[in-house]
Amino acid sequence: MKKRPEWILPDLKEAQKRTKKQIERIDSYVVPENARSIGVNRLYFISTYGCQANERDSETLAGIMDSMGFTKVEDVEKADVILINTCAIRDNAMEKVLGEIGNFKRLYRENPDLVIGVCGCMAQEEGFVERLLEKYPQVRLLFGTHNIHQLPEMLYSVIYEKKRVVRIYSREGEVYENLPVHRFGKHKAWVNIMYGCDKFCTYCIVPYTRGKQRSRYMDEILKEVRELKEQGYKEITLLGQNVNAYGKDIDDSYDFATLLEECAKIGIPRIRFTTSHPWDFSDEMLDVIGKYENIMPFIHLPLQSGDSDILKLMGRRYTQEEYITLYNKIIERIPNVAVSTDIIVGFPNESDQQFEHTLDVVKYCKFDNAFTFIFSPRPGTPASRMEDPISLETKKKRLALLNKTWNQYALERNKAYIGKTVTVLVDGWSKKNHTVYSGYTDTNKLVNFTGNHIQTGDFVQVYIDDAKTFSLDGHAIE
Ligand code: 5AD
Ligand code: SF4
Repeated sequence: MKKRPEWILPDLKEAQKRTKKQIERIDSYVVPENARSIGVNRLYFISTYGCQANERDSETLAGIMDSMGFTKVEDVEKADVILINTCAIRDNAMEKVLGEIGNFKRLYRENPDLVIGVCGCMAQEEGFVERLLEKYPQVRLLFGTHNIHQLPEMLYSVIYEKKRVVRIYSREGEVYENLPVHRFGKHKAWVNIMYGCDKFCTYCIVPYTRGKQRSRYMDEILKEVRELKEQGYKEITLLGQNVNAYGKDIDDSYDFATLLEECAKIGIPRIRFTTSHPWDFSDEMLDVIGKYENIMPFIHLPLQSGDSDILKLMGRRYTQEEYITLYNKIIERIPNVAVSTDIIVGFPNESDQQFEHTLDVVKYCKFDNAFTFIFSPRPGTPASRMEDPISLETKKKRLALLNKTWNQYALERNKAYIGKTVTVLVDGWSKKNHTVYSGYTDTNKLVNFTGNHIQTGDFVQVYIDDAKTFSLDGHAIE
């Protein structure tokens, strides 16, 4: 691969630096004059991998594409521009993305003017970028998480100057307000409250790919929430890698409990938030969540491991006992709360006994839902440099046992809903069966149900007839 002087490639060392420098806040956005009509008579397709932060970024990408006159399509075969917004959290995500780009090779052969752009967290990874540039000439545009606002000028160069554009900043990042947004949901919306992460859990790539923790000003967030309410949105989810730390990077007068309360007062029917790190979970947050009907009784509280020594190696800054104390406080203070979690098995050197400690916590908490993963070494992170004699086979066995264990409790929790009536916000037809509707309860339980004259975005009372591990079945009560 011949590197070009105008390419800006990722630099992991730069990405991990944290300074005391004030972050820049940019609140006006204009599409450069020469890029304003690039999209006229052109179609774009976006493919999104990974977490909600990426989903929300794709909505900004779509908003920027719309502002250049492009039109969004669902059929990739028709697209003039394909954007692939990637995730770097585990290795398997990378293989999936490379597979998808490989599939687009045919489209590129048929239409050499097709622009294939790759962005998101994987673009921030040195190794991935090298491999992509070398092996995938069909990728004409590659940009990072800090370069989204530059999409118009980059596309201009690709389309009119026929350049291959690579622009990946590795830095702490800024806060951009007022970037255009094309929301994909009509009744549920994502609201970023902060960007980046400073926790540097030893296994995690996010602080390197998304920069320093940067909270948005509360006024800006509340303005967005008010607008969403006016537009008729029924549910918002406040997003951040660790929402509990909201505002700590601005000053002491800011905190998440206050933000949550102010959002609740605006009166959107449903407010959710994700993700909460057990470390900064405050009593004030519990009070606010318990006090407002429109803050959903559902907490995603990543455990990662139930063993205090592994937690220390992970840099999580809580022990098994502290997690359980917090869990107990949550279930005492928030009526009918549901709790979900993330768990990693096979962290370097995790012993059978340490894994048992994770199972102990699962058995104690009986989580409503869990996202479970085998540790995946991320290049550049401290955990990726730790020696790891535990075989993949052992890790797979642990994952299977963990899944069997939490599934059993999730089913038990779900069965407690049988015979009860719940309020469901309707998403539309069930994905698997177009004769039943689906939606979620306040506790974030997926419900498939029958009924008549039901619209997406309605709140419906549903009587629960049956329960499965991952969903509830019921019928609407007229
Ligand atoms: N390997 C496996 N799982 C990981 N996660 C984050 N980094 C890794 C990794 N290197 C999981 C954590 C996190 C979730 C989003 O992904 O459980 O909470
Ligand atoms: Fe990663 Fe830890 Fe930050 Fe979550 S809190 S994004 S796991 S570094």
